[in-house]
Order: sequence, then C-alpha cells, then structure tokens
Amino acid sequence: MDQVMSSSEVMHIRDQGAEHLSHETVKKLVKQSQEAKRQSYSPYSKFRVGAALLTAENKVFTGCNVENACNALGLCAERTVIVKAVSEGHRCFKAIAIASDLEDKVISPCGGCRQVMREFGSNWDVYLSKPDGSYVMMTVDELLPTSFGPEDMMSHVSDVTNAS
Ligand code: THU
Repeated sequence: MDQVMSSSEVMHIRDQGAEHLSHETVKKLVKQSQEAKRQSYSPYSKFRVGAALLTAENKVFTGCNVENACNALGLCAERTVIVKAVSEGHRCFKAIAIASDLEDKVISPCGGCRQVMREFGSNWDVYLSKPDGSYVMMTVDELLPTSFGPEDMMSHVSDVTNAS
C-alpha cells in the first residue's frame, strides 16, 4: 500500500478548467522553449527539443532532451522539465511549450510524455511550436483522451480497502 499515493497527495492536481494564456505570454513561453532547445544533448538523433513549463505560481522551468549511449535511458525535453519542476515542489501547471527544429510541422510530444503530463492533470495547455514561433494549442486531454491517471489509482485503492 505505501507505494500508492494518499488522497492528500493527489489534491494538488489542478483539473478544474485551464484559463488559456494570452498570445503575448505564449510567445514568451515558446521563446523560452526555443532557448532551452539550445542546451539539447542529442548526439545520437541530432533531434533537438526544448520545453518551457509554466507553473500555477507563474514560475517558468525549462528543459531539453538528454540522450544516452544506452538508448533507452534518454529523456525527452518534456519529461526533463516536469521532473525539474516537481523535484522543486511544483505540481500545478498552467502550460508547457515545446520547440524543435522541425520547420514544416509542429512538434508533437511522444506517448510517454503525454502520460507524464497527464499525471499532473488533464486540463492544462500544451503549445506545440515551430521554429518560426507559430504554435498550436492542445490540452493534455486532447493529446491523451480517455486516459488512465492518479484518480483511477485512488478509486482502485478505495475499492481494495472496501472489499475486505
Ligand atoms: N523528443 C523529445 O524530447 N520530445 C518530443 O516531443 C519528441 C522527441 C526527443 C527524444 C529523443 O532525444 C529525440 O527527440 C528523438 O526522438
């Protein structure tokens, strides 16, 4: 049981409707994700990705992809930045902007990163950008519909508790 989070731990999750950001704020967040991309450690794929995460307290964290000679250990930019923020005490997020070098289409987060975003709520904004600064906004729920999340674990835990 102790590896399962308690209900007080999931209470932090902001899931009651995202207020969308102004165009100016998004532009700034996209720029910060582009700057973060410059730190990308991607000697194997040469595919640079940066991310900028805006917390509920309006603090911005940035991160990039960090690859490894042992391929499976590489970390996407989105996961890097979420781990940075959570490890510094932030669990409520308004938005994340993602940048890559793809010119013709916006960068789209991998399935694993969608699930990691979803851990911290399904109703917050993901800005998928291009190098020219243009972007598309999708919510976490749109990127990962009918998802499995912490609430499902909580109801499972209470079912198990009530069963005996
Ligand atoms: N990558 C990210 O960091 N984020 C994405 O949204 C897509 C892919 C990284 C993982 C790997 O380092 C490289 O891009 C190629 O897949």
